[in-house]
Amino acid sequence: MSEVVKLERQDEVGIVMVDSPPVNALSAAVRGGILECVKQAVADPAIKAIVLTCAGRTFIAGADITEFGKPPKPPGLNEVLVEMENSPKPIVAAIHGTALGGGLEVALACHFRVATKEAKLGLPEVKLGLLPGAGGTQRLPRAVGPELAVKMIVGGDPIGAAEALKNGLIEEIVEDRVAGGAAFARKVLAEKRALRRLRDDDSKIAAAKADRSIFTNAVAAMTKKSRGLEAPFAAADAVGAAIDLPFDEGLKKEREGFLKLLVSDQSKAQRYAFFAEREANKIAGVPDGTKPRPVNRVAVLGAGTMGGGIAMSFANAGIPVTLIETAEEQLKRGMGIMQKNWEATAARGGIPADAPAKRMALINGVVGIENVGDADLVIEAVFETMAVKKEVFAKLDQYAKPGAVLASNTSYLNIDEIAKETKRPQDVLGMHFFSPANVMKLCEIVRAAKTAPDALVTAVSIARKIAKVPAVVGVCDGFVGNRMLAQRGKQAEKLLFEGALPQQVDAVVTKFGMPMGPFAMGDLAGLDIGWRSRKDRGIKSEIADALCEAGRFGQKTGKGYYKYEGGSRAPLPDPEVEKLIDETLLRLGRKKRVVSDDEILERMMYPMINEGARILEEGIAARPSDIDVVWLYGYGWPIYRGGPMYWADTVGLKHIADRLSVYAKETNDPRLEPAPLLKKLADEGKTFASLAAASKAA
Ligand code: 3HC
Ligand code: NAI
Repeated sequence: MSEVVKLERQDEVGIVMVDSPPVNALSAAVRGGILECVKQAVADPAIKAIVLTCAGRTFIAGADITEFGKPPKPPGLNEVLVEMENSPKPIVAAIHGTALGGGLEVALACHFRVATKEAKLGLPEVKLGLLPGAGGTQRLPRAVGPELAVKMIVGGDPIGAAEALKNGLIEEIVEDRVAGGAAFARKVLAEKRALRRLRDDDSKIAAAKADRSIFTNAVAAMTKKSRGLEAPFAAADAVGAAIDLPFDEGLKKEREGFLKLLVSDQSKAQRYAFFAEREANKIAGVPDGTKPRPVNRVAVLGAGTMGGGIAMSFANAGIPVTLIETAEEQLKRGMGIMQKNWEATAARGGIPADAPAKRMALINGVVGIENVGDADLVIEAVFETMAVKKEVFAKLDQYAKPGAVLASNTSYLNIDEIAKETKRPQDVLGMHFFSPANVMKLCEIVRAAKTAPDALVTAVSIARKIAKVPAVVGVCDGFVGNRMLAQRGKQAEKLLFEGALPQQVDAVVTKFGMPMGPFAMGDLAGLDIGWRSRKDRGIKSEIADALCEAGRFGQKTGKGYYKYEGGSRAPLPDPEVEKLIDETLLRLGRKKRVVSDDEILERMMYPMINEGARILEEGIAARPSDIDVVWLYGYGWPIYRGGPMYWADTVGLKHIADRLSVYAKETNDPRLEPAPLLKKLADEGKTFASLAAASKAA
């Protein structure tokens, strides 16, 4: 008898129970166990119908991703599914939690499906750079029609039980999976329902067979945002095969596509990113079993750009927020923007029509920091000046309840210094969200010198609760993300002095897969902020200064490194900027040269990787994969390139170190010399990944 799958009998119903924590993934043992139990149930004359269900927190969450890339172990999943689909006795999948990937494919090979109310069903393989490899692309269109199938397979997002019921993916919503599944099985027996094998049922794809545009339009809509990715297009082709070919041939096409993607560099990078994100939840140096403090109410200080977005993120997760401002006017403006944002999302159909009102009701806007009283977590998002932050934390020390976690959203300032303003530095840390905070998933959790382990665990756990991806970092200027970004910014600026144009630099960076280049990003953020700060510090940056002196502050003035026409956000190259750069270089007596795209890419990326190595040396990030998580979720690093440190390994650290040395000399910039850690790894022929493996072994 299998260790992880058991067969029990309740009267004439055989219950096949998968019990393989944490998520019942389809390891070889689970596949073998299901096959064995189904065969036994079919052979047992006392059993008339079978229910396949799971113990623990979820239905099968997919293939076991840790098995990918290793030699396959029998039985293959398709073999198990054929046995199930051909069973002469009805099989009912009873779903709770998440039926994902291979998990949903198992359910699709059953004759009927029921699910609990909160269940989610999906084929998220594209998010791992794959396509469903066990019949999902062939059976799902037959279950729900090609349009929804394309949405689920090419987009990768799951649907809820209600939508699954409406579209025929499940037959019923049940209270309890085992009792409900068994009751449904008895009903099938009593009503003598015919077994529905999806492979034999073309009724829902008939319309698309007659008019293929139903399918191609759905694909066009879903692949709009798939720039650079291979899997969504391959997944769409596999769904196309369901429409164009008989079932078995379609299945063969799907298999070919799956196997091709499985060994692709993109999928390897995406699978790495999946585990990197989960690894980031494990905090180095925190005693096992450290529990988070309860967080039932949050206070956010400042209803500006960031405070508003942060408050929205909590309300989106149903957590009540006290939003605190200095005056009614600012409060009203901030609350107004939040309401408008939600209403716009509701108008697009992104959230239910009644959600904006419900979410606004969770936000209690007040004036005065003394109202922070009952919050378990306070996040400060006030102006970025040390004096203001210090004043705010001194007041928080006075008014916040004992044990409340006190977080700063500062982008650059020293949290240790801020914590000193309180008599409870153990409760102080950074929670650095990214703009727009209600959209961007990253939250850098900044651990200060005296932050208590349970305060840190609280921040990580609440960040996850509001659907953010936390990454724990240490105190330094700009933490992980902005510190590395600053290196890129420096090079971007230098390149202009050597003869490159903003549009050339940005094009190289976006072609690599980043959503925006440094100059378009500067225009979006506003060039005047840096200009003022340079003036205060007596620093010059001649080209950027000349732009600002000409009133070109970026998007907000319709002109910056680019021009923006008719209120559009699309950056257009501007001959005036080229002229202004030429004039500046002439004035400074600088000669232009042709800068190649290869050089631009190296100078955009390698100095960031070098800074990443320093960040690791200093222990600001515990693992290279944490740095990758920061870039994937805070800066739109293309997921199919895994993250800067992962990508660096694929390029080769020796090459990167050598090129950095060359640039250090050519541009007379000692900061570009390879960091000791990078140099050491390069000399030893090692990778950043080897550090993670070594720290796991320790
Ligand atoms: N294989 C192996 N391990 C998995 C796994 C999987 N499919 N899914 C989750 N895990 C592991 C995680 O790595 C984590 O391990 P850890 O505790 O050691 O870090 C643990 O299970 C718990 O996972 P989460 O922290 O993500 O738990 P949550 O409760 O937040 O989320 C989940 C649960 C929604 C199921 C989420 O884990 C998830 O999305 N998993 C991946 C689902 C997926 O992509 N399935 C498709 C796989 S590909 C496939 O099926 C191919 C097929 O078509 C042939
Ligand atoms: P903002 O200027 O849009 O908002 C700041 C708000 O704080 C204002 O509405 C102001 O009235 C309010 N405020 C000032 N003092 C206050 C006090 N004592 N109590 C309550 N409210 C007070 O600024 P923004 O952009 O939201 O930045 C806030 C913080 O977030 C800064 O530390 C910034 O560095 C950081 N940050 C900003 C990002 C961005 O892209 N804008 C990204 C990540 C972090």
